[in-house]
Amino acid sequence: MGTLTSLVIVVIGCLSFCAKYCSSVPQGPLVPCFYIFGDSLVDNGNNNRILSLARANYMPYGIDFPQGATGRFNNGRTVVDVLAQLLGFPKFVPPYSRTRRSALLRGVNFASGAAGIRDETGNNLGDHISMNQQVMNYARAVQEMQRVFRRNDSALGDYLSKCLFYVGMGSNDYLNNYFMPTMYRTSSNYTPKTYAKALLHDYSQQLMDLYQLGARKVVVTAIGQVGCIPYQLARYNPGSNGSRCNEKINDAIVLFNSGLLKLVDRFNNGELPGSKFVYVNSYQSSQDLVANATSYGFEVVDKGCCGVGRNNGQITCLPLQRPCEERQKYTFWDAFHPTEAANIILANISFVSKSKYDVYPINIKQLAML
Ligand SMILES: *[C@@H]1O[C@H](CO)[C@@H](O)[C@H](O)[C@H]1NC(C)=O
Ligand SMILES: *[C@@H]1O[C@H](CO)[C@@H](O)[C@H](O)[C@H]1NC(C)=O
Ligand SMILES: *[C@@H]1O[C@H](CO)[C@@H](O)[C@H](O)[C@H]1NC(C)=O
Ligand SMILES: *[C@@H]1O[C@H](CO)[C@@H](O)[C@H](O)[C@H]1NC(C)=O
Repeated sequence: MGTLTSLVIVVIGCLSFCAKYCSSVPQGPLVPCFYIFGDSLVDNGNNNRILSLARANYMPYGIDFPQGATGRFNNGRTVVDVLAQLLGFPKFVPPYSRTRRSALLRGVNFASGAAGIRDETGNNLGDHISMNQQVMNYARAVQEMQRVFRRNDSALGDYLSKCLFYVGMGSNDYLNNYFMPTMYRTSSNYTPKTYAKALLHDYSQQLMDLYQLGARKVVVTAIGQVGCIPYQLARYNPGSNGSRCNEKINDAIVLFNSGLLKLVDRFNNGELPGSKFVYVNSYQSSQDLVANATSYGFEVVDKGCCGVGRNNGQITCLPLQRPCEERQKYTFWDAFHPTEAANIILANISFVSKSKYDVYPINIKQLAML
């Protein structure tokens, strides 16, 4: 009798412990797999072995990352690293350059620094894996996964339909193409309006290719306020540590972003049956981040934490250069990329915000749980 009573007490004790804590304990990831496409904002090491100036596998990059300088272009986690954690993944998504076979099933990161929607974008920095090549690499990964699934395509399709796809492209098509007229002809061949249209034409094809290859839950991100990064502030405000953004670049990007939002509506309204696309308004959130800097604990929004010259933005963070001490007070890590602290806030907004202005038509958590 005594043992039974104490057993009951133990069971009740466990249940109430569980009621209190279980809901906050992650139950495993919300999606079985996470595939990532993009540029240096989300690259996690794919450029390490290629001939490019767009590399970050040297200190002080990764100074706040447990494994150090992995090739991520900031001091710590990228936006997709934070998203992987919010989704409940026990590990970060590995780079495609180091992932094969059944490991592909959990998710892979195809992103490459300097990459763009257009193949030639980023050539000024050397080699890179353009969006077209990233889609081809994903097609190769699908072939490998077909083998794991013993060529049962309907089972593989079913599996991939539950995965989350994240695509963040386009910044370099402006930064390292259209607004670099000494290297590229696009600004003489296109107006900002026709350029945005040409980019979106190519991009919609790439996104449809991903759909053909099984993608159903897809996040696409707007281009951020590239006209306000330290690199542009330094170029646009010669002679001072200025904070005036280059609105010509921002205006061109707004054209692209509004077209991308319309594309998401078209895909969701019947063009790609069975899919759900989500638009993350990184342009708006990067603006809010600066506008609300102090409420988030930031003190410096117009200078890189590590870099050289005006706004620490004329030359990007050099090998073994000493970065700023209080990195959580800076929104920018270097001339181009946000700090981990900024990435944590940006990822969280896209994950949980109820505002359609931040993330549309649903947030990433809702997309994952569909
Ligand atoms: C493919 O997988 C599905 C679901 O796992 C299963 O029901 C079906 O029998 C499989 N088809 C073949 C040909 O093995
Ligand atoms: C800009 O600021 C940096 C450090 O904050 C300083 O070293 C530099 O002299 C300043 N440049 C100009 C032109 O004011
Ligand atoms: C940030 O600023 C915007 C206006 O720019 C405002 O609408 C929003 O509520 C602010 N958010 C926070 C978290 O302070
Ligand atoms: C994430 O965003 C929500 C809603 O804006 C906010 O309540 C929460 O504190 C944020 N969490 C973090 C870690 O920033």
